[in-house]
Amino acid sequence: EPRPVTAPAFRAAKGRSRLAVVTAYDYTSARLADEAGVDAILVGDSLGMVIQGHATSLPVTLRDVIYHTQCVVRGVKRALVIADLPFLTYQVSPRQAVRSAGKLMKFGGAHAVKLEGGERVADAVRAVVAAGIPVMAHVGLTPQSVHQFGGFKVQRDAEQLLADAAAVVAAGAFAVVVESVPADVGAKLTAALPVPTVGIGAGPGCDAQVLVFHDLLGLFADFTPKFVKRYADLGTAARDAIGAFAREVRDGTFPGPEHSFR
Ligand code: KIV
Ligand code: NA
Repeated sequence: EPRPVTAPAFRAAKGRSRLAVVTAYDYTSARLADEAGVDAILVGDSLGMVIQGHATSLPVTLRDVIYHTQCVVRGVKRALVIADLPFLTYQVSPRQAVRSAGKLMKFGGAHAVKLEGGERVADAVRAVVAAGIPVMAHVGLTPQSVHQFGGFKVQRDAEQLLADAAAVVAAGAFAVVVESVPADVGAKLTAALPVPTVGIGAGPGCDAQVLVFHDLLGLFADFTPKFVKRYADLGTAARDAIGAFAREVRDGTFPGPEHSFR
């Protein structure tokens, strides 16, 4: 049995080893990611796009993330499982943040939670950490604020990004996702912070990198940000396989005798 990755161990990897993080939303994909040896699995609210087919993550509910976290933890032996707090489940008050985060831990079985924002959510981070729950923060392009940004845009205000990251770390965050910032800003944040930066579109200077499962595997083609690297084309493989099945059903070659009972 592999030794599980804990939030303190994730944090302690700062400056020692680079960490790999991937999203997952169900048992089978979580099991594949865990067996591949990733350090953490994020049950991201990106599930609003890749699982539910929405244009943004805003419609995702706490119940949705609880359900997907329950599925994911059943497939994981080693990786740290981090569950995203969806839009409007922590912004109202620190009390709301503790309740929502607690439900992800208590009912979902998550090992940690993630929420978006910097200075604006520092009080929420502090409250959730005080409840005994490890918190990963998320600064830069925070997709729950897409309407305020006016689109999925690269964030370039280095001074504000540093202030945001410093605020959530001071509030107790054990790591910080940094999304869609120039590579030099990603490196600057990494040098300034005492906890790991988890980059996505934040350059090679970060302590860790995260990608969305479906993007990494070429399963999602609705849109592909510049920061996505496709390590496989499973979308094409799946379409070809299902097409072969349908052809064999129509021409009568499936099922053959080896797939039939006598
Ligand atoms: O929801 C998500 O998948 C995320 C990662 C891309 C960081 O927040
Ligand atoms: Na997210």
